[in-house]
Amino acid sequence: MQDTRPFEHVTRDPWWRDAVVYQVYLRSFADGNGDGIGDFPGLRARLPYLAELGVDAVWVTPHYVSGGADGGYDVVDFTAVDPDYGTVEDVRGLVEDAHALGLRVLLDIVPNHTSDQHPWFQRALADPDSPEAARYHFRPANEDGGDEPPNNWQSMFGGPAWSRTPDGRWYLHLFTPQQPDLDWRNPEVVADFDRTLRFWFDLGVDGFRVDVAYGLFKDPAYRDNPGIYSPTLFGHGPEQAMTTNQPEVHDIWRRWRALCDSYAEPRMLVGEVSLADLSEVGRYARPDELHHAFQFRLLKSDWDAASFADTIAEALTAFDAVGAPAPWVLGNHDKARQVTRYGSVRRARAAALLMLALPGSAYLYAGEELGLPEADVPVASRRDPIFFRSGGKRAGRDGCRIPMPWEASRPNAGFSAATPWLPQPAGWPGHAVDRQESDPDSTFTLYQQALMARRLHPALGSGRASVTRHGDVVRVDLVARDGEPGPVTCWVNMGSAPVTVAARTLLLASSPGVPGPVDGRLTLAADTAVWVSR
Ligand code: NOJ
Ligand code: CA
Repeated sequence: MQDTRPFEHVTRDPWWRDAVVYQVYLRSFADGNGDGIGDFPGLRARLPYLAELGVDAVWVTPHYVSGGADGGYDVVDFTAVDPDYGTVEDVRGLVEDAHALGLRVLLDIVPNHTSDQHPWFQRALADPDSPEAARYHFRPANEDGGDEPPNNWQSMFGGPAWSRTPDGRWYLHLFTPQQPDLDWRNPEVVADFDRTLRFWFDLGVDGFRVDVAYGLFKDPAYRDNPGIYSPTLFGHGPEQAMTTNQPEVHDIWRRWRALCDSYAEPRMLVGEVSLADLSEVGRYARPDELHHAFQFRLLKSDWDAASFADTIAEALTAFDAVGAPAPWVLGNHDKARQVTRYGSVRRARAAALLMLALPGSAYLYAGEELGLPEADVPVASRRDPIFFRSGGKRAGRDGCRIPMPWEASRPNAGFSAATPWLPQPAGWPGHAVDRQESDPDSTFTLYQQALMARRLHPALGSGRASVTRHGDVVRVDLVARDGEPGPVTCWVNMGSAPVTVAARTLLLASSPGVPGPVDGRLTLAADTAVWVSR
């Protein structure tokens, strides 16, 4: 598909409002030095692929020196690169190469917790009266010598959110015991993260995805949560009121936004805001806070027209209310791949066309453009603490973190000359990039065409949308911003029988073989989406 670029870029200001961001799971993207682990040199060499796909930015999952307890989300040193991934100079080089290709680079920052190996926590363990101890949430040992934790707070990975130090104190960890939570009421914590942000911004990094952006502050009186956390919910609700969505967190996002805006080329922030109430999520994206606030309702929707239509309508309302673009996500490194969740690659392709039509930003997770399914990882190869902490009850996230297949005929599908850190399943080479790039019907080509159309057509990805549902059919009418041409309609048939829809011109279809419109009508097969003009 060499002739698909360059093309006229419809520049919308500021760039992030309608950006398509590609999430790279660094450990699994591309191995540059042949040790079986993805790294910065590998990613750097594959940047032309991302430019060819047509995304605007790349978000790289945590790259810091880490304790290795939670896929890099347990950071030991926030200004050092894990040797598995390369060096700070490699990050600089990545940013330079990306900018030369017109791509922006976002890193992933983890402010809610550190690794237990972090020098602060090590010092805090050694000396309860140290300034470092005051940067975490420690509670005294039980006076009666018992082992009842200080309150009912739970780890999102299973079990209590409290563990004990060798001297009997308790410390808080909303994730694994190797991820002690920081106390954001301590100004030293706040100041230290300012320094970390500047360190990477000064290197040229364009922004950050912010881990656990809804949860930095906890109830200062450590009162019990009203209810129990359930990983199956859309997001945290009032039952988690003492550990999530505390009002002070917004002060931090205002502070970080001001820091971003202090650069001549302002930097951007996208926060993980796993809250059930979308109007609460929207408040994180007010004009002086985060640029994007992830909502995960769509990600958690089953293949169901009502669920998709209601979620889209509700999210548009919530973000419109604060003048922010809605960020859309169908897959990420924490969730089983959509091909498997929905039941077929055909459905995943239809969902992608729906998402990419919507106004706002879209986040793609590496490999979704190849239609990768969730992999069944042998138990002996599992790495995810969720699997182990739940005693195997929760499958964990390894199945969506499998190394990328690049070239079908190379060892390990071209990911690495060495055995990959997570095994690739049989059949993986069949999904390889080199098989799909030259195939007009491949999932890669569909994404590429959708991204190009999105850039060229002002009604796609940036105008105004209205969503309706007719039985199993979702209809999104898209109108460009004032003065620009339109409109476009996205029709999605989520039912099992074909339907007839209104269409004048077929712009793009999610499955091959959709016949063009006749007399203003188009037949839409089951599990198919189209973009049409009317
Ligand atoms: C959310 C991240 O996406 C996830 O991978 C991680 O385990 C938790 N935050 C804890 O940092
Ligand atoms: Ca490597």
